[in-house]
Amino acid sequence: MAFKATLFVFLSVAAVAIVLVPMAEAQLGLISGLLGLIRIQGTLFCTPNGNVGTGGATATPVFSNATVQLLCGTAGNVISTVTTNGSGIFSILLDPLQFLLNSLLSDCKLLVRTPLSACNSSLSGLTGLLSSPLQFIGNTIAGLLSIVNIIPVGFNLINN
Ligand SMILES: *[C@@H]1O[C@H](CO)[C@@H](O)[C@H](O)[C@H]1NC(C)=O
Ligand SMILES: *[C@@H]1O[C@H](CO)[C@@H](O)[C@H](O)[C@H]1NC(C)=O
Ligand SMILES: *[C@@H]1O[C@H](CO)[C@@H](O)[C@H](O)[C@H]1NC(C)=O
Repeated sequence: MAFKATLFVFLSVAAVAIVLVPMAEAQLGLISGLLGLIRIQGTLFCTPNGNVGTGGATATPVFSNATVQLLCGTAGNVISTVTTNGSGIFSILLDPLQFLLNSLLSDCKLLVRTPLSACNSSLSGLTGLLSSPLQFIGNTIAGLLSIVNIIPVGFNLINN
């Protein structure tokens, strides 16, 4: 009898633990989803180095429909793949619970998979792909959301 009671208590505690752990995780995920966000955003230009020209942003053609990837680690794992819009703007959103700012900045980079010739055939002689390290420029608050803003340091052609 005592054994049965002990077993019952044990099973009850185990059942509560099984139910509670995923709930706590789900709630944490929800809270971070509502309250925090890492945003990597930038504009890709259709120039030999992908950066804004000397005439400024309005005078420089943009590189739209380009595939931009976030790669991390020495193996270059693909974390995210996005496409630049009609304004050449790309935006990658990450969960701050899954990424540490310092390791993002030190271990990750942007890589443009679409060659420059796609936006201007005169640039087809330039081999390689555009790539940029990342930099943190500050936090902004949008309602309940705290956004960690990261931008490209500047693009360069690299041989991938
Ligand atoms: C980008 O892609 C859209 C949809 O595929 C297409 O309509 C548009 O012409 C493309 N723009 C450029 C500049 O390639
Ligand atoms: C591109 O995305 C930016 C940021 O979301 C937005 O402000 C801009 O209007 C978009 N441009 C086009 C052509 O959709
Ligand atoms: C294409 O690239 C060439 C060489 O950089 C440049 O002179 C030309 O203005 C570009 N054309 C367009 C439409 O951006």
